Amino acid sequence: MPNQRFEALFLNWWRRFSRRQLMVATSTATVVIFTLVFISNPNKTTLEYSIDSEVLESNWVPLTLLSNAQQKGAFCLDGSVPGYHIQRGSGSGNDNWLLHVEGGGWCNTVKSCSSRKRSPLGSSIHMEQQVQFFGILSNDPSQNPDFFSWTKVKIRYCDGASFSGHKGSEFKNETKLFFRGQIIWDAIMDELSSLGLSRGKQALLTGCSAGALATLLHCDYFREIFPKDANVKCLSDGGLFLNVYCSSKTLVNSSLSRVFFLKTIRRDSIELFYQDVVHLQGVVDSLDKDCLSKVKPHKCFFPQEFVKNIKTPLFLVNPAYDWWQNIYNCNPNQLEILHGFRDTMLKSVKEFQQTKEIGFFVNSCFTHCQTWKAETWHSPTSPRVDNKTIAEAVGDWYFNRKAAKHIDCPFPCNPTCVNQDFTPHL
Ligand SMILES: *[C@@H]1O[C@H](CO)[C@@H](O)[C@H](O)[C@H]1NC(C)=O
Ligand SMILES: *[C@@H]1O[C@H](CO)[C@@H](O)[C@H](O)[C@H]1NC(C)=O
Ligand SMILES: *[C@@H]1O[C@H](CO)[C@@H](O)[C@H](O)[C@H]1NC(C)=O
Repeated sequence: MPNQRFEALFLNWWRRFSRRQLMVATSTATVVIFTLVFISNPNKTTLEYSIDSEVLESNWVPLTLLSNAQQKGAFCLDGSVPGYHIQRGSGSGNDNWLLHVEGGGWCNTVKSCSSRKRSPLGSSIHMEQQVQFFGILSNDPSQNPDFFSWTKVKIRYCDGASFSGHKGSEFKNETKLFFRGQIIWDAIMDELSSLGLSRGKQALLTGCSAGALATLLHCDYFREIFPKDANVKCLSDGGLFLNVYCSSKTLVNSSLSRVFFLKTIRRDSIELFYQDVVHLQGVVDSLDKDCLSKVKPHKCFFPQEFVKNIKTPLFLVNPAYDWWQNIYNCNPNQLEILHGFRDTMLKSVKEFQQTKEIGFFVNSCFTHCQTWKAETWHSPTSPRVDNKTIAEAVGDWYFNRKAAKHIDCPFPCNPTCVNQDFTPHL
């Protein structure tokens, strides 16, 4: 089914991307080899650690499986127990919580969910026993100036529907797929609350890609966990999935010629893909009620339809040209249409120009997910807009230091971009 190309494209990209992040963190060949050995055998610990000081410093955080999962019925796609990685903060930072929701696309069919359940994105059996914390998750002040001392949690994604699936949609036959996204979310929040989250003084919920969508969907509910006087905000990184898509034949603008659209690339549209995800996993119960009263349910999976209803202060980090446009398919001569995409993106953030609580950083780089990588979050070579790194802009907004509404000039004007090379030449 051609529609599954979305899933395949995304997963391929995600795997390459995750692997690359690992490499970036390690500087010599020996360390790289060593790290790979270490990952393939996570139970080997201190003896090997001590071989290389670089690895010693590399901030590995172990996986914790949810202890209340059985009791709550919170399961990954395959029925295994979901998990997270937690690193307690230091000093006064211990009472401040930063939650990062992992991304990794969605599954939209029985087939794609069944294949996902044999991967870390659908089963804790396949998850790495430890991961490294970089960028916004780093405990190093030079890499993460405002949040380094906070308690940090990376929430693992294993439901395939941005933590919004519902049990009622599960099949009663031998397919054996668990659609428990929303239950997983609630169970993780309960468990973290018992560890101090609900007594937090400051908190930031963030996530990238499908994790950014989860962040947006759950943001206002997250706010309710905390006391009224707590400073609670949400940050979406690469979550503004627009209802446009670039296909192998041509770039598709879903509001362009309907006939053309239906004839040639019907099953490639992100809208139809989302429709399948929402339908398969019963996502509707987790969607914004106001949005649902106005448009078809699956459309409320698009942030552009509900972001304006979020009451909690929000920051949007997004490239003006996200990977949907450039991945494999786009013809380099379609720059003009890509600029059209940028305009659409800018239009959706500019609605918030007057809203004090909302910040944004829209850079003209070809990339996806910029907050959890040291190289794009905050480093001497990070992308900058108005001479600010993403970390500086997010810090300005979070701590109300100054307005943080940063919009880049059009591609290829910004020499600080860290462009990802999964594309044809531009
Ligand atoms: C189980 O039921 C669903 C929905 O009716 C169907 O799509 C799926 O193919 C079924 N699986 C098997 C193995 O019969
Ligand atoms: C899509 O088409 C509409 C209507 O023609 C237009 O207003 C919009 O700018 C286009 N968006 C993109 C990304 O080309
Ligand atoms: C940009 O910021 C850096 C420090 O963050 C500063 O050293 C540099 O002078 C600034 N450049 C401009 C042009 O303002």
